[in-house]
Amino acid sequence: MALATPDRQVTFQHHWPRRVVVFKRETQGARIAVMARCPTLTDGVVVLDAFSSDDVDAHVGGEDEEQARRFGWYPNRSTRDTALAAFEQWARDWAEDGATRAFAIRHADSGDLIGGCQLRLREKRMAELSYWTFPPHRNQGFARRAAALVCRYGFEKLGIERIEAYVEPDNRASRRVAEAVGFREEGLVRQRELTQHGERRDMALYGLLPEDLSPPVHVLG
Ligand SMILES: CC(C)(COP(=O)(O)OP(=O)(O)OC[C@H]1O[C@@H](n2cnc3c(N)ncnc32)[C@H](O)[C@@H]1OP(=O)(O)O)[C@@H](O)C(=O)NCCC(=O)NCCS
Repeated sequence: MALATPDRQVTFQHHWPRRVVVFKRETQGARIAVMARCPTLTDGVVVLDAFSSDDVDAHVGGEDEEQARRFGWYPNRSTRDTALAAFEQWARDWAEDGATRAFAIRHADSGDLIGGCQLRLREKRMAELSYWTFPPHRNQGFARRAAALVCRYGFEKLGIERIEAYVEPDNRASRRVAEAVGFREEGLVRQRELTQHGERRDMALYGLLPEDLSPPVHVLG
């Protein structure tokens, strides 16, 4: 197995002129159509694009206790309703230049939903990154690939100049993902997170500048 870094493997396919309807539902008799204009990013192994209502069951079914704990809502769990509401909000953010740029992570060959990755835009041309993958798909490099694609997209297409990731100090898998992308650990931010249940948590701060970004890696067979 050889590692190469061909830039051409990373593509951003923009669909800006073509607005895609991803959600339609009946609400109090009125049909609500939420439009999305999310680009497709790929390195040939994972494909990142918009979540659609077809992803709801995979998204809810894929979430494990680890994910619910790390994102601070355990013992609550995602449901079809909370997932649909999140997808709709993410689609609105794409359509209306909102704060969150969320991508579904899919396997390039099978199209299976692997997880998700999102940038939340902050002031001063900064953004915060988060990511998740479902248990059967972990430890295969998918989160690292997705995070690298999204960070590159953020720098090159959104004009972001600094990306932060806040990771629980004992979340070693997430630390490895951030470090593989090129993030540097910059310190401990005390009591940075607030869970759904009011518990505050210390978080390790990781920072990424454009020049830190690891080159795209493509595994050749
Ligand atoms: C963190 C998470 C996204 C990683 O996803 P993934 O698809 O497994 O990530 P990758 O395969 O790209 O990389 C995982 C890395 O962590 C390492 N790893 C996995 N479990 C580990 C553990 N318990 N201890 C140390 N390292 C571990 C793997 O060996 C790999 O590192 P390597 O590439 O140096 O070998 C996934 O575990 C997850 O969704 N967790 C729950 C949600 C979460 O914590 N999100 C991050 C919030 S900041």
